Amino acid sequence: MQFRRAQTQDLNALVVLQNKNSIMLDAALDTSEGFLSSAFTAEDFAAINNDAAIIVCVDEQSDREGGRLLGFVCASTPAFNQRAGLPAAMLARFEQINFAGGKMADRPCVITGPVCVDKESRGSGIFSRLYQALFQQLSQLYPGRFELAVALVSTSNPRSLAAHKKIGMVEVDQFVFNDKTYNTIAMAIAPSVG
Ligand SMILES: CC(C)(COP(=O)(O)OP(=O)(O)OC[C@H]1O[C@@H](n2cnc3c(N)ncnc32)[C@H](O)[C@@H]1OP(=O)(O)O)[C@@H](O)C(=O)NCCC(=O)NCCS
Repeated sequence: MQFRRAQTQDLNALVVLQNKNSIMLDAALDTSEGFLSSAFTAEDFAAINNDAAIIVCVDEQSDREGGRLLGFVCASTPAFNQRAGLPAAMLARFEQINFAGGKMADRPCVITGPVCVDKESRGSGIFSRLYQALFQQLSQLYPGRFELAVALVSTSNPRSLAAHKKIGMVEVDQFVFNDKTYNTIAMAIAPSVG
């Protein structure tokens, strides 16, 4: 298994894995092991990868060029997230939230997610290794730029909440958007300066 930054050859596989797990595209989806609410195109994934990074986990034994996609985690900047209603609603609340020694609005954050692990590969440690590779990649690409990692998880997705809590994220906020409740979770990924 290989964990690396996404490349152009991964974009279509990212769309396929997302689409298999998105309630936006399949209202009858079995959500017992979590669900995504995104409907990104290959171009959207390329834009996210460019904005900060996408880490993929691939099985390099597979015949597919670049390996079979087993999971991915996206990361993007707050500025990038202002263009969509739901993350913008989360960010608007950062003025009121104090976390790890300061107001969230004043802290350099990276927004993580969506994150997804293919059904057959869940519970295998890929989730935490994706995040580990992501934080390593971010510190290499943007040294010292981000202090906090922040993610948005539906309250109706206890599996995702549990997985994020296992890697050290804690709940910092809860809010309602379009009649659905979301948790904002966060963790420090670099020491606060000043
Ligand atoms: C969410 C997801 C990325 C997590 O990856 P994973 O490999 O399943 O995660 P892990 O197995 O490392 O951790 C899940 C934890 O939740 C627990 N869990 C499973 N079902 C649960 C449930 N219904 N309620 C609460 N906890 C649950 C597991 O027991 C495990 O904890 P443990 O290792 O202490 O036993 C993956 O399940 C997935 O891709 N789901 C579909 C898409 C999705 O929901 N993405 C996240 C959107 S925010």
